[in-house]
Amino acid sequence: SPGLHRRVGDRLRTYLSHKTKSMNGSQGKLFPVAIISGNTANNGSLEQKASFPKSKAVSDNEIWRRSMQLSMEQQAWQKSAEGQKMLAFRRSLPAYKVKDAILKYISKNQVVIISGETGCGKTTQVPQFILESEINSLRGATCSIICTQPRRISAMSVSERIAVERGEKLGENVGYKVRLEGKKGRNTHLLFCTSGILLRRLLIDKDLKGVTHVIMDEVHERGIDEDFLLTIMKELLPCRPELRLVLMSATVNAEIFSSYFDGAPLIQIPGVTYPVRTHFLENILESTGYILTADNQINDYGQVWKLNKQTLNKRKSQIIAAVGEALVSADYSGYSQQTKESLLCWNPDCINFNLIECILCNICENEKPGGVLVFMTGWDDISALKEKLQAHSVLGDQDRVLLLTCHSSMSSSEQRLIFEKVATGMRKIVLATNIAETSITIDDLVFVIDCGKAKEASYDALNNTPCLLPSWISKVSAIQRRGRCGRAQPGGCYHLYPKCVYDDFADYPLPKILKSPLQSLCLQIKSLNLGSISGFLSRALQSPELLAVQNAIEYLKLIGALDENENLTILGGYLAMLPMEPKHGKMLVMSAVLNCLDPILTIVAGLSVRDPFLAPLETKELAEAAKAQFSHGFSDHLALVRAYNGWKVAEQKLIGYKYCRKNFLSPQSMKAIDSFRREIQSVLKNIRLIDDKASSYNTYSFDENLVRAVICSGLYPGICSVVYKENSLSLKTMEDGLVLLHSKSINARASNISYPWLVFNKKVKVNSVYLQDSTAVSDSMLLLFGGSILKGDVEGHVKMLGGYLEFFMEPAVAIMYQTLKRELD
Ligand code: CDP
Ligand code: MG
Repeated sequence: SPGLHRRVGDRLRTYLSHKTKSMNGSQGKLFPVAIISGNTANNGSLEQKASFPKSKAVSDNEIWRRSMQLSMEQQAWQKSAEGQKMLAFRRSLPAYKVKDAILKYISKNQVVIISGETGCGKTTQVPQFILESEINSLRGATCSIICTQPRRISAMSVSERIAVERGEKLGENVGYKVRLEGKKGRNTHLLFCTSGILLRRLLIDKDLKGVTHVIMDEVHERGIDEDFLLTIMKELLPCRPELRLVLMSATVNAEIFSSYFDGAPLIQIPGVTYPVRTHFLENILESTGYILTADNQINDYGQVWKLNKQTLNKRKSQIIAAVGEALVSADYSGYSQQTKESLLCWNPDCINFNLIECILCNICENEKPGGVLVFMTGWDDISALKEKLQAHSVLGDQDRVLLLTCHSSMSSSEQRLIFEKVATGMRKIVLATNIAETSITIDDLVFVIDCGKAKEASYDALNNTPCLLPSWISKVSAIQRRGRCGRAQPGGCYHLYPKCVYDDFADYPLPKILKSPLQSLCLQIKSLNLGSISGFLSRALQSPELLAVQNAIEYLKLIGALDENENLTILGGYLAMLPMEPKHGKMLVMSAVLNCLDPILTIVAGLSVRDPFLAPLETKELAEAAKAQFSHGFSDHLALVRAYNGWKVAEQKLIGYKYCRKNFLSPQSMKAIDSFRREIQSVLKNIRLIDDKASSYNTYSFDENLVRAVICSGLYPGICSVVYKENSLSLKTMEDGLVLLHSKSINARASNISYPWLVFNKKVKVNSVYLQDSTAVSDSMLLLFGGSILKGDVEGHVKMLGGYLEFFMEPAVAIMYQTLKRELD
């Protein structure tokens, strides 16, 4: 019946399935429904209305395929002008031209590698090719395709896009699953997820039962999770001969994957790119006549300007120290004296916001229409630049410029704006992190500004890479960034560094597994039962240094996550399930045990998301003074708790924003911390570390000394001694000797730290070693909580603690001891 509604069809199928099962007793083959008339609600039971054609048994697949075809809405949509336009668009993508080859290779090989320029249709088309081919070969109902993405934001946005392309709702055939969020149904046959989610599934389903295809996207990024998955997949494939693995990569170094998988075929999607005019710093200076000054200012064209010899020599030695000899010895004979000297004033350690502003202004006033993509390193410099540009007369004019940001913690509505076309006469400017390098394609871009640096995103805690300092990108990344603007028409790219510095870039980015701490990875190897840690890692695509592996194992033993024989302890088991660095996970476990959960939730969320305390250069003093108001007991972490609690009250009164302005806090960071706190709480519930009775985990949340001890339990062995000698403070760590406090730290302003120790979460080395954040702790806290109280001989340890307690009878310590003893008993 043409009026058959899909839902009625579904109900009928379910009904008939029961019916035929009871008739045949077994398999329950379905019969297609031929005639249905009338309105079921008014016209009696379904049974009377359904009639059966001659008994022609048809498989579940066929029914499913037909039901797909029967979906009226979808059929109508596909025929509509909009649907046809979408189909035409899909067919125009380069990936479509090699569709048959892709499917043929996949059917004949267990592993296939596909590479192609960003935007050619790998992510959105290849999974659909597979899905459609499975449907057409009547395997639709049994196929299960999993496509991994390195970031949650791409898993969400890509699945949404594909649903739109198919005229479906998200969560039907196509769905997604990221940490604590997802849209998928019983009929979801193509699932997008983060690599971390697939790793989690492997925890409970070692063989990926029922999965027919695994597609790993963006493998060239070489994240830790992705490299880890590749090694696991390599070992799983021989046990699951029918499982297919498709690796998708930008056009960099795809051969390495082919050789890792024993010469698996590599399909290269041919791309069309338009020429991009490339300007390095010297070209920018020469053609605009801008003069850089050493304090990141820019002087206008035409000013008579020359450095004196002394300054010139000083600048030369500074530049050599920062980027080596290349810039000083490069041949700039074709360039003006002004440009040559200006290059020596270039400051490689920071991004020159003024220069970006000038270039943007120039583009807006003089260049052809088209969007601009600005590559920055992270959320901090993106928001600072945005603020600066908003204050500019041209760039801040909302009638002419649409200023957007693109980073991993943006909301989905912000994200949609990025893809939208702007009205004629408007110019779109997107300030982005390297997320826009390969995983997000913005169509109408004509110009790119590249700061040349990148930083690991610190939000996706599953990747568990601590937030690094921005560092120079590789040549392939620079080429990728440049390529973002030549997709629809010729474009222009401005690199904010000289060509000779580019020539010094590494060819490829270093895989993360070679440059990150491996503690979380080692925990996961253990919890997935993959045998010896070093044995497993020696079979990875590129094995990390033995020393790095040993360090990680030693650390995990020290904090009590692994026992002497490298087996997972109970604590280690919990830490492996927590989506954050082990030290932060340990703090949470301890706070749940010692009933001071709430403040630790805030601290862990703050450390995992980002520091909400702002320190704008111009108002540094004011900002530091504002932070000092939250100071209590020499702890940056407790200050964060107070700032958050204050914000929460203000937010309920709808004055959260005002509160943030007054206290130099970032409202976005506060919100991100708030939502991450909720996420952590549900993880803790999922792994049954806490239950619904929130209050019982907060009996001692008010006790700042107890909270301090718990901070100590997580941050140990990040510890530094505090000694005052003749009124001057001297701080020492075991590994570094003398260290200093970062100026943002509350303790940097403290006149007399009345504790013998500081524990810290992070230190950075600039010239000296600086502790970024710290909390003062007493001897007893360190004695009782530094190290692994949950390790090995629990009883003996508690007895020993009891011994110490006779010396240190602080009330907080007594609580810790009693609670611990009770829990351990
Ligand atoms: O994965 P790859 O970089 O090869 O390309 P893709 O993500 O599959 O995107 C293919 C094309 O789809 C892009 O060039 C965009 O034009 C379009 N697209 C879109 O319009 N909206 C999205 N959310 C994603 C892709
Ligand atoms: Mg892609």
